[in-house]
Amino acid sequence: MSHAAVNAFDKRYAGHAPPRANAWNPVLEAQFSHRSVRSYLPTPLAEGTLETLIGAAQSAASSSNLQLWSVVAVRDAERRAAFAELAGHQEHIAIAPLLLVFLADLSRAERIARGKGVEPEAIEYTDTFLAGAFDAALAAQNATLAAESLGLGTVYIGALRNKVTEVAKLLGLPPRVSPVFGLVVGHPDPERPASIKPRLPQPVILHQEIYNADAEPEPFRPMTRPCGPSRPDRTCLISTGRLN
Ligand SMILES: Cc1cc2nc3c(=O)[nH]c(=O)nc-3n(C[C@H](O)[C@H](O)[C@H](O)COP(=O)(O)O)c2cc1C
Repeated sequence: MSHAAVNAFDKRYAGHAPPRANAWNPVLEAQFSHRSVRSYLPTPLAEGTLETLIGAAQSAASSSNLQLWSVVAVRDAERRAAFAELAGHQEHIAIAPLLLVFLADLSRAERIARGKGVEPEAIEYTDTFLAGAFDAALAAQNATLAAESLGLGTVYIGALRNKVTEVAKLLGLPPRVSPVFGLVVGHPDPERPASIKPRLPQPVILHQEIYNADAEPEPFRPMTRPCGPSRPDRTCLISTGRLN
């Protein structure tokens, strides 16, 4: 295991690291090294990068292989600036060269079914919408790891859902297509590197055979901050963490 990998592993658990697997490889190192990047250079992406990321995204598993998702690539600077504002002044959207908006897309399946003269009953089920959202999330995470493996940075933009009507209008979305989140992709600014953020100790989230909340170390407290200009009256949860 390389020094960088050991470092990433330890940072992920901030002193609560579980035993490490004997087998280690570059994919694990990339996963453990993940960090959201919010400082970018405006440098464009190399040709073919978008298509490679989308190929990786499409390689994710898909519920019944229905592929109930789509993605819009937003590269135009003015449009990225508009999305940055909609997301509550998230400047990184305007600076990085690419915003991918992942969509739960039931419209394509509906068009195909109706084109074949079939009534798409299941389109109304909550579970079908969830399948679209799962598919989009799995695809996006594959794209994220692919981008990171190419030395690029990413950050998810869930804040787009705070302005879902405006986002749908800017993207020209038809009925039955819902934005799940955005994903900013770009070259991280080396002057302002992001750090690896720790996660909960494994016994908190990993249950053996049955769910057992007794394994939860105490005490935990939610860490909060003001939500920002788009929701000035609200308090947002940053994470849960141990007291002291
Ligand atoms: C669904 C989702 C939505 C998110 N939305 C935002 C967002 O709008 N803006 C932002 O700066 N980060 C956003 N994030 C990034 C999280 O804040 C980040 O993943 C978390 O703080 C852990 O940090 P890390 O990714 O560096 O490990 C989002 C992450 C996820 C999974």
